[in-house]
Amino acid sequence: MWKVVWATLLLLATVCAQRGYAKETKGAPKVGHVSVVIVGGTGDLAKKYLWQGFFHLYANQVSSGYSFSFYGGGLLPKDKATPFLFEALKGVVCPRELSVERCALVKEQFLKLAEYWQLKTSEDYQALGKHLTEQLTQEGIVEAGRLFYLSVPAFAYADIAERINNSCRPTDGAWLRVVLEKPFGHDFSSAQLLSTQLGTSLKDEEMYRIDHYLGKQVVSKILPFRRENSKHLDPIWNKHHIERVEIVLKETLDARGRIPFYDQYGVIRDVIQNHLTEVMTLLTMGLPANLSDVKEVLRNKLKIFSALQHLDRNCATIGQYQNYNLEVQEELNKTKEYYSLTPTFAGIMVHIDIAQYEKMPIILTSGKMLDERLGYARILFKNDIFCVQSHNSVHCKPKQIVFYFGHGTLQYPAILVSKNLFKPDLMDTEWKEITEHKDVSVLGMPISDYYVLTPTVQREAYAELISHIFQGRKDSFISTENLLASWGFWTPLLHGLAKTSPRLYPGGADNGNMLDFKLLGREVTFANEAVVMIPQDHMGGSGAESFQVMQGKYRSAEMVSAWPEELIVRLAADLQASAEKAVREGGRFHLALSGGSSPLALFQRLARHHYSFPWRDTHVWMVDERCVPLTELDSNFRTLHDHLLQHVKMPYFNIHPMPVQMNQRLCVEEDSGALLYERDINQLVNASSFHFVLLGVGYDGHTASLFPGSKLDAHGDSLVALTESPAKPHQRMSLTLRAINQAQKVGVLVMGKSKHELVTQLSRVKDNPNKWPITGIRPTSGRLVWYIDYDALLG
Ligand code: BG6
Repeated sequence: MWKVVWATLLLLATVCAQRGYAKETKGAPKVGHVSVVIVGGTGDLAKKYLWQGFFHLYANQVSSGYSFSFYGGGLLPKDKATPFLFEALKGVVCPRELSVERCALVKEQFLKLAEYWQLKTSEDYQALGKHLTEQLTQEGIVEAGRLFYLSVPAFAYADIAERINNSCRPTDGAWLRVVLEKPFGHDFSSAQLLSTQLGTSLKDEEMYRIDHYLGKQVVSKILPFRRENSKHLDPIWNKHHIERVEIVLKETLDARGRIPFYDQYGVIRDVIQNHLTEVMTLLTMGLPANLSDVKEVLRNKLKIFSALQHLDRNCATIGQYQNYNLEVQEELNKTKEYYSLTPTFAGIMVHIDIAQYEKMPIILTSGKMLDERLGYARILFKNDIFCVQSHNSVHCKPKQIVFYFGHGTLQYPAILVSKNLFKPDLMDTEWKEITEHKDVSVLGMPISDYYVLTPTVQREAYAELISHIFQGRKDSFISTENLLASWGFWTPLLHGLAKTSPRLYPGGADNGNMLDFKLLGREVTFANEAVVMIPQDHMGGSGAESFQVMQGKYRSAEMVSAWPEELIVRLAADLQASAEKAVREGGRFHLALSGGSSPLALFQRLARHHYSFPWRDTHVWMVDERCVPLTELDSNFRTLHDHLLQHVKMPYFNIHPMPVQMNQRLCVEEDSGALLYERDINQLVNASSFHFVLLGVGYDGHTASLFPGSKLDAHGDSLVALTESPAKPHQRMSLTLRAINQAQKVGVLVMGKSKHELVTQLSRVKDNPNKWPITGIRPTSGRLVWYIDYDALLG
């Protein structure tokens, strides 16, 4: 222990003589002793960044009255691992501001303060905890805090956190900070589980989840830049002026050596869900009044998350570099037949549903084995000037702001503002303007067309974040709410893409324009035809030869069958044809739609491809509804709203949600919601006969909210009834068989392999609506058409 005090005193003496005491660091309760433990202290990350970061912390803080001790923890016994630790420590380099002599002194002391500690069992943690406390009492020094940096695979987090909680908590009044590296789960539920597990051992304020992008100098300057330049930015930071936002991380490296991790994660989980999403929120969130108010920053970020439009697989294109699969077979010991679907490239379009950004595309893209290493976020503004002549004059050029994270042609971090936009204000003395530069071009424009701001001293992201942890600055870290909001947003897309085959690309410059993608409404597709694809038979999916629609009979009614996408294309086209006919003949189209997941793809198809659909003359009714407020996620109306209604131009008056909530209560008989809906149908729909009713069918044979065992006869002549579902929420409102059978056309959509057994069973049973409500669908004078995809039909 003497070495701690010794080293500190020696340094204090020299430093105080040189420049006096530094001020007490903001956020840290008091000066005193800090123990730093890197669990995984001999691993790659520690070697590459962490020890370097802690060395900088030491060099910067030791003169401010703190003393330190450093422990590299690992599974190996001390004698085996100590040489590895010192190998890593020897590589650290001094901050530029230190003189050579001082650097040598500081480094020597740093090495003396570090030791290896085996951290394998609970007893090892107990011994460490005891040692840390004994050190303090022996020397009579006050403890400031203990910092544990977990640079180990995430599966070990919960156990380690528990051991820290049980045996390594600091003495009273001192802080505990536990730093965690991603991955924090691989989807919403795993992230939630991990958070709950960690929450049993650590308080939220003790956890520091690292996203190293938040430590990049340019990224951490996004909010201050927006604030400093708000005079210029406020009027143009919106959909009217911004053409699009691009957030890009291009890498030239492959995933070799990391496959066991990478193959479970892929590019979206590895960098898009975290790094690029964080940048997106910083660019789009409302500016907090106080940039360092953690709560306000979080609140504003969460507002963006809650306004993000739901992503489905059409919002993304994915790719995989050609050698990846071979690397997977080798590193995971797989056979030659094994095919991984993990994407190493993704291009995704995101929209934020708030008036400021409505319909403004935000592109997030990243990939391994691309032609260059480069990261940036670009705000491309619309240029409303039409140049008749001299297209090269400055006001004719693109207007953009580029937050350049580093690498690429420029090789240094910078914020670039097109000269035809405005001259940015310098944020502080830590940034400077560069006016002399080499002749390079940045994103298609010569650098001389930009104002260029860059940090005076470049600092490594990890060193920045380590200093923020020390200062207790939680604004640079990912809170639990932030994490779960992000996973909540990305998980549906990840699940939607799980079986999608990525486009193969050769890697590097040979990719040519293979990965270029285009934005079409809300869809993203590759701009050029694929050259090579993973063979379909390995995917267990559909073959190209099967893209045909088949007509036939099912339960003695018409049937249309095709592979899922084709089936939806056909159903949407049939709906549009019915709508056009109805509008031609009577000026109105009355459409009743049901809930469930099957029609989602149809809603999206209608929203994105059927621009000539006569929406203005269409009335949308509900086939059934759950007795929940319409704003709840499981309300059928909410689904319909999110996936269709909000994307089409339909008069408000033509939308007819079921009145399940009246007098501030849900589906109470005396409130007569069902009667009210029936009255509306009678008044507005000609002869109460819908032009088209779209139904689904459940595993138990239910349709609409008419369930097996419900006394359907009891509905008598009613068109709408309150019903009971065996599944939650139990109470429902539903059109009755009578209302449905009066329709001019009824379509029943059945999709997915999981419905195969049901389809087979239904093909054999006789009409028995009390047992199989769907068999009660027999339009009196209209047509019944079954739309069944091949997965459901053939299994
Ligand atoms: C890491 C990812 O989080 O970020 C890596 O796991 C990726 O796959 C890296 O290469 C990119 O970070 P940077 O700082 O090099 O842009």
